[in-house]
Amino acid sequence: MLLSSFLAFGLLTLFDTSRSLHLAPRSTLTDRDDEYPLPNKGNLQIHDPNVLLYDHTFYAFKGAPSIQYFQAPSMGGPWTLVGKVLDGPSIIDKKGQTRPWAPTAIELNGTFYCFYAISQVGSQNSSIGVATSHSINPGSWTDHGALINTGTGGGDLSDVFPYTVSNAIDPSVIIDQDGKPWLAFGSFWTDIWQVPLTDNMLSIENPSAPAANHLTFIDLPGDNNDLTHLQGTRPEEGSWISYRTPYYYLWFSHGRCCYFDPEKLPPAGQEYSIRMGRSLNVSGPYVDKDGQSLLEGGGQTVYGSNHDMVYAPGGLGVVTTDVGADILYFHYRMFSIHLSLPENAPSHIAYRNIQAVVTDIWIFTVNMTVGLGFNQSLLGWNYLDYEDGWPTPISGTEAPVSQPKKSTNQSSSATTSNAQPTSTQPVGAQSSSGQAHSTISSLAQTHSAKPSSVSTKSVDKSILYVSFLALAFLLHFASAVS
Ligand SMILES: *[C@@H]1O[C@H](CO)[C@@H](O)[C@H](O)[C@H]1NC(C)=O
Ligand SMILES: *[C@@H]1O[C@H](CO)[C@@H](O)[C@H](O)[C@H]1NC(C)=O
Ligand SMILES: *[C@@H]1O[C@H](CO)[C@@H](O)[C@H](O)[C@H]1NC(C)=O
Ligand SMILES: *[C@@H]1O[C@H](CO)[C@@H](O)[C@H](O)[C@H]1NC(C)=O
Ligand SMILES: *[C@@H]1O[C@H](CO)[C@@H](O)[C@H](O)[C@H]1NC(C)=O
Ligand SMILES: *[C@@H]1O[C@H](CO)[C@@H](O)[C@H](O)[C@H]1NC(C)=O
Repeated sequence: MLLSSFLAFGLLTLFDTSRSLHLAPRSTLTDRDDEYPLPNKGNLQIHDPNVLLYDHTFYAFKGAPSIQYFQAPSMGGPWTLVGKVLDGPSIIDKKGQTRPWAPTAIELNGTFYCFYAISQVGSQNSSIGVATSHSINPGSWTDHGALINTGTGGGDLSDVFPYTVSNAIDPSVIIDQDGKPWLAFGSFWTDIWQVPLTDNMLSIENPSAPAANHLTFIDLPGDNNDLTHLQGTRPEEGSWISYRTPYYYLWFSHGRCCYFDPEKLPPAGQEYSIRMGRSLNVSGPYVDKDGQSLLEGGGQTVYGSNHDMVYAPGGLGVVTTDVGADILYFHYRMFSIHLSLPENAPSHIAYRNIQAVVTDIWIFTVNMTVGLGFNQSLLGWNYLDYEDGWPTPISGTEAPVSQPKKSTNQSSSATTSNAQPTSTQPVGAQSSSGQAHSTISSLAQTHSAKPSSVSTKSVDKSILYVSFLALAFLLHFASAVS
């Protein structure tokens, strides 16, 4: 009797949850659940990815500890390691010189440039350096050291405005429609800045008084020059500028990037998301769809956590295929599904295929955790569709139709190759379940005798498995009763 009420309770709990399969899931982890499409899988573990399309091949550059880079025939991989940009530490003599961050590679007139940042978490004592090569092959790169330095005593010209108020991390470079290169950089402190590069991109134009443009800023109460106050309060970083006639688009990451404690996630919406604004002028001012300036805290969110599976996307870039389609790529964290089983669960439950052979009565616990390490950031990507000149990431691996080829003066890589991402794997339900399968199978050994009901943190994908298991459970129950 006790056992059957216990069982009924378990079943009710399971079925109550499974009903939400047909409803909008009650989102507890993130607040904009289905507003954004699932990412296509990049099949690469990477934080702050940078993708360069050159000669029909995609190259992905990855920060710390050295700048490794990979190549693939498509955004979905398979990626193979090509080599490293820097073999040892950067020649920039600063703390963190062995761990160059957030590289950005660009090809211009036969030269490959790889911009990178040297910094430490929470420090404004940062530099942006550059290495060049006449070939994309490893072993051919030369490190030229710092282009800009920020922070008190942070190095050459670090006492020059705006380096006194900004943080030299997260470099990105655009060559504008007049052929002029610009370096964008910045993060917490006073957010995103832009300075003009010389034609060879190895230094800043007029370095002791650069014609700097402030691109984004969230104005908060307090002294804007009080860096201790500013730190951590203006969560905008990781900028990227793309161009599609007639607009420049300024993209950036907003919110908390990393160090997530699965038990204490920041309030929904405060984790990384991708924001954007546009301008007819590479130097701004950039405004969002609501007409709000990015210098006044504007920037509409175009991509964020979604489906209670994908968490804190950011560290983005945009790459244009040669058929003229734009791809937004980024890193994201993936919630893992943990099924806890009672100790007496028989070993013949084949979790890998989610085929439960139910011979006894168990109650499963579902709980979600999110990867903590930088090394659990995954490459994701979506095509961008433009409506009235506003880009939106779309689901699927088909490029949107009738994208006008963009007139660009960017690197030849953007204009001469014909590579098109093909045979990529959509994440969708299919590959999400792939992820879930492996997580579940790897955790299937972790048995728990705790008869707990389905956690409120259960999510739509996990609900699918729970429903499946519950169905098997019910069938067994029904046959036992009859
Ligand atoms: C910044 O780094 C440089 C180089 O390591 C060092 O000499 C300087 O003292 C640092 N400044 C601060 C404020 O820590
Ligand atoms: C491109 O490279 C060639 C060969 O190195 C050089 O002669 C030419 O001046 C460069 N063009 C530009 C615009 O820098
Ligand atoms: C591209 O840049 C060159 C200078 O490098 C300039 O002469 C040319 O007009 C630009 N083309 C377009 C379409 O803007
Ligand atoms: C962009 O803005 C800057 C600064 O306001 C201005 O000097 C420049 O002429 C503008 N460029 C174009 C192409 O309008
Ligand atoms: C969720 O699962 C993880 C990994 O098994 C565990 O460390 C954590 O304590 C669980 N959280 C809850 C609320 O059960
Ligand atoms: C990932 O990083 C964590 C710490 O941040 C480390 O313990 C773990 O070994 C790393 N895993 C891999 C596969 O590199």
